[in-house]
Amino acid sequence: MSKISSKYAIELEDKYGAHNYHPIPVVLSKGEGIHLWDLEGKKYFDFLSSYSAVNQGHCHPKIIKSLNEQSKKLTLTSRAFYNDVLGDFEKFITELFKYDKVLPMNTGVEGGETANKLARKWGYEKKGISENKAKIIFANGNFWGRTLAAISTSDDPLSYKGFGPYMPGYEIIPYNDLESLENSLQDPNVAAFMVEPIQGEAGVIVPDEGYLSGIRNLCDKYNVLFIADEVQTGIARTGKMLATDFEDARPDILILGKALSGGVLPVSAVLADDEVMMCIKPGEHGSTFGGNPLSCAVAKTALEVVEEESLAKNAAKMGEVFRGRMQKFIEFSKLAKIVRGKGLLNAIVIDSSVESDKAWNICLKLKDNGLLAKPTHGNIIRFAPPLIINQQEIEECCNIIETTIKSFE
Ligand SMILES: Cc1ncc(COP(=O)(O)O)c(C=O)c1O
Repeated sequence: MSKISSKYAIELEDKYGAHNYHPIPVVLSKGEGIHLWDLEGKKYFDFLSSYSAVNQGHCHPKIIKSLNEQSKKLTLTSRAFYNDVLGDFEKFITELFKYDKVLPMNTGVEGGETANKLARKWGYEKKGISENKAKIIFANGNFWGRTLAAISTSDDPLSYKGFGPYMPGYEIIPYNDLESLENSLQDPNVAAFMVEPIQGEAGVIVPDEGYLSGIRNLCDKYNVLFIADEVQTGIARTGKMLATDFEDARPDILILGKALSGGVLPVSAVLADDEVMMCIKPGEHGSTFGGNPLSCAVAKTALEVVEEESLAKNAAKMGEVFRGRMQKFIEFSKLAKIVRGKGLLNAIVIDSSVESDKAWNICLKLKDNGLLAKPTHGNIIRFAPPLIINQQEIEECCNIIETTIKSFE
């Protein structure tokens, strides 16, 4: 294909694609490490990392090598047959995260669906819940994707409005509220509580210390499964391999996605011990592409990179630098009100009382100044660069963010 202009690329998407996204107007054509380039050759710092899918950096050479090598041998067999890569990946990931078994899927939301089905099945087979009565509890502000089950648990009208009727068997309680959780767990039909250890799409909401271990204790007390949705927080993003590692809070069901492939392919995984995982029998769940050799080879390498390059440690350190700078900045800023986050999953809350699209306009200006970020929930800007970023680069990016916000004051 001959080279097209950014203007034409946007026109094409506008005319031929569904309008289910509202992108920042930049057309990207190359990525390497923490950087992206647009069609005109302008270079940007990536501070979104494709919603935390590119933790290892764009086109990581080792992951791409693995993709290339496996793509020449075998890409898809379906699960009608065994393949020579899946078992090796399953051994690697279960040993890494210390679970008996893994169920590989593709997207994050499929991981969530799988976890929900597993919890319901466990509820009927092990907990003795009567048929079709199983209930799963969620927290308000949750986001786990766009399927009908996922939007049935959402309290965001933008997600659910106009798409009913909704899936029964769900209840929403306040996030970061152990008392409400304990009240809900009194119901003997509750099979599971599914929660993000830090809520990403809601605007990087970090719960109080003790929330995660509190969930673990309550789930034990009431014989309910603790499902951790670590699709966004997992794989070193928050400064540990898992955000649940910060407390004594090992989930019964762990959902991973996004950075599991370093942003190369859609790969998700659900991990659990036999007591839960063996509730699903042959023919009861699956996916044509889940566990395909190409994804397995890529995912194993993507996890190796996270370990070899100590990305969790770097995320923890660089996160401190970022929040340190931003805390100082907001003391004197008229617009930036709050900075919060953990590791390299951070957000700044912008005062939008005068202008509702202030955060959006700041992101447009950030783009002009060479840094890509996007608002989440109106006035909150998430800052989540690839975890390979170094201190000098973080400082340079803080300069860009500060100068940009100041230019609006
Ligand atoms: C916490 C969480 N869970 C699940 C998902 C859904 O992942 P996917 O878009 O790959 O289906 C997301 C996506 O942003 C997420 O942030």
